[in-house]
Amino acid sequence: MEQDRNVAKRQRLGKEAKGMAENKGFRPFREAARNEADQLTAAMEDYLEMIYRLQQENQTLRVSAMASALQVGRSSVSKMLRKLAAEGFLIVENYGDVQLTEKGWKQGKALLERHQRVARFLQLAGIKAEQLLEETEKLEHMSSPETLRCLDLLVDYFDQDAAAEARLEQFRSEAMRLGETAPAVNENDDQLNH
Ligand code: CO
Repeated sequence: MEQDRNVAKRQRLGKEAKGMAENKGFRPFREAARNEADQLTAAMEDYLEMIYRLQQENQTLRVSAMASALQVGRSSVSKMLRKLAAEGFLIVENYGDVQLTEKGWKQGKALLERHQRVARFLQLAGIKAEQLLEETEKLEHMSSPETLRCLDLLVDYFDQDAAAEARLEQFRSEAMRLGETAPAVNENDDQLNH
């Protein structure tokens, strides 16, 4: 069953990747326009992802808690909440409680899943645990959906083959070991390469 789902997912990702290659970046106008309208800023994405995380854990959403979690002022939190409410992602109750709408819940879930997939990719790529969160935040906001789908496919490849991940790990530690013992780069050689 799990296997079937994986195969279906692989087929879907493969089809999308193939479509991208064939289209060479061309997107029908209708779709481009729709994406334009749906575009969220990185800050809006951060808020929705965090609110979804908190609401999933059944935590009450208070402006002060959000402000400290995001390390911003309370007024910017209120301003952002108004913006997200205007876009239909959430409702701010009179007593200050925040509730995600169905649209907001869906979007938040997708953003959290994206975050987790990007984190897994970076982990596979050898990013250290202490840098993982910061690097994930950068990559998830800056990459196109197409790039994220390609990273996803790469993660799937390794997740379905433990031996492949072990080989990658082996290759990496070998490269690190060689890197540590490599002679210092000659400055003149280096200049020639620029
Ligand atoms: Co994130």
